[in-house]
Amino acid sequence: MRKFKDDLHVSLLMIEHLNNKIFHLISDIADENKKACYVIGGYVRDIFLKRASKDIDIVVVGSGIELAEKVTAKLGKKANLTVFKNFGTAQIKYKDIEIEFVGARKESYRSESRKPIVEDGTLEDDQNRRDFTINALALSLNKATYGELVDPFNGLEDLKNFVIRTPLNPDITFSDDPLRMMRGIRFSAQLGFFLETNTFDAILRNKERIAIISKERIADELNKIMLSRKPSVGFILLEKTGLLELIFPELLALKGAETKEGIGHKDNFYHTLAVLDGLCEKTDNLWLRWSALLHDIGKPRTKRFDNRLGWTFHNHNYVGEKMIPGIFRKMKLPQNEKMKYVQKMVSLHMRPIVLSEDEVTDSAVRRLLFDAGDDIDDLMMLCEADITSKNPEKVKRFRANFQLVRQKLKEIEEKDRVRNFQPPIDGKEIMETFNLPACAIVGEIKTKIKDAILDGIIPNEYEAAKKYMFEIARELIKTEQENNQA
Ligand code: CTP
Repeated sequence: MRKFKDDLHVSLLMIEHLNNKIFHLISDIADENKKACYVIGGYVRDIFLKRASKDIDIVVVGSGIELAEKVTAKLGKKANLTVFKNFGTAQIKYKDIEIEFVGARKESYRSESRKPIVEDGTLEDDQNRRDFTINALALSLNKATYGELVDPFNGLEDLKNFVIRTPLNPDITFSDDPLRMMRGIRFSAQLGFFLETNTFDAILRNKERIAIISKERIADELNKIMLSRKPSVGFILLEKTGLLELIFPELLALKGAETKEGIGHKDNFYHTLAVLDGLCEKTDNLWLRWSALLHDIGKPRTKRFDNRLGWTFHNHNYVGEKMIPGIFRKMKLPQNEKMKYVQKMVSLHMRPIVLSEDEVTDSAVRRLLFDAGDDIDDLMMLCEADITSKNPEKVKRFRANFQLVRQKLKEIEEKDRVRNFQPPIDGKEIMETFNLPACAIVGEIKTKIKDAILDGIIPNEYEAAKKYMFEIARELIKTEQENNQA
């Protein structure tokens, strides 16, 4: 048992939560209208798990909408009611909480859709149609039975034993709504629970049904897995149940370790997950976490065996960077600056480590700062998480070198301020100074000035850049004119 010790403790927990004024108000109105009414689902589960929750689900044996209207009227101006007639539900927003009212229902599903045929039902019917036993717990709100737990599937026992199990035959629960397969895996990762064997096996059997779920909902669940404490739990379950192959084949392609002529390479799927878990101990940044998940995504496409070098994955960072827009589009992940950030992280992820293996020159550090800009600290975090070697000597050496890179980054940034720097002379000034039209030569002069600053040939200052511009430009323009005459 983890978070609650005995039945008395359970009762105390419930009383504490149900003492909230809002529950008493709902209770009064439900009694006045002679309607049986319960708090149900995730909110009840989270009371026992001591997780804060602001989303309250209320099930009414009768019309949820009617009860919601009456509660809103009593709450006054601060309450905001939205009615979803088609779904038979209503939502009240009151201060920082959201209360969803629904009439108890019985549902039957058709094979081609998640949209059920809904009929009025009893509390038991309603609990039957829910996804997991731990999400089917209901607490009575009527005065005579206030705070009584209605738990027909031993959900409390499953909570105590950290078990995810469907209330009905899992083939029915998953076939009715295949998103629940993802939810079950997500809860395992999020709450640190286990998928009960029959529930797990049913995902194996029903996995193809995931095809009827929208990409947006799948992405939502993936993001929740990504934000859990140890996302590898979720991805390993996705792989083992066969769902990963259907929703994210590019990630599955990392799995496996080949050996040729006695030389093997690491399994990049498990390596990726180790990097991701390691990074998650340091940051909650979702998109940095995605960068860790995708940092080696280009490896399967670049894998070669070379008699001299063994296994190589040349340019896998650039190939990975190029794969990301396609993956994000297909998975309905954002196509904006968040994606660009992930691309940048993936393309640069080897730079700090390469730098730490070579001599850490000022010029290489300046270039890294210039390319990473404000994301340099995130990049360093990712790169450090990427060190998963089992050889302690190697890890020690990498970490020491890394310290050196960090130190140098700090020194150079203080001295040269090249993070996010814009070369002090722009194209317009070059064109005006030399009376040039917009042409390749202007770009060339600009690049040379930038390189000179990054290589430490000139300081990052206007006067020095201008002097340097005259030196190089004369030479370049002369060569260009000679070429044109020839
Ligand atoms: N539910 C379900 N099947 C689904 C989604 C939801 O049976 N596909 C039921 C569960 O009883 C769940 C409740 O509806 O507890 C509320 O759903 P939701 O708010 O989506 O989930 P929570 O369990 O509250 O968890 P989270 O907010 O983390 O998604």
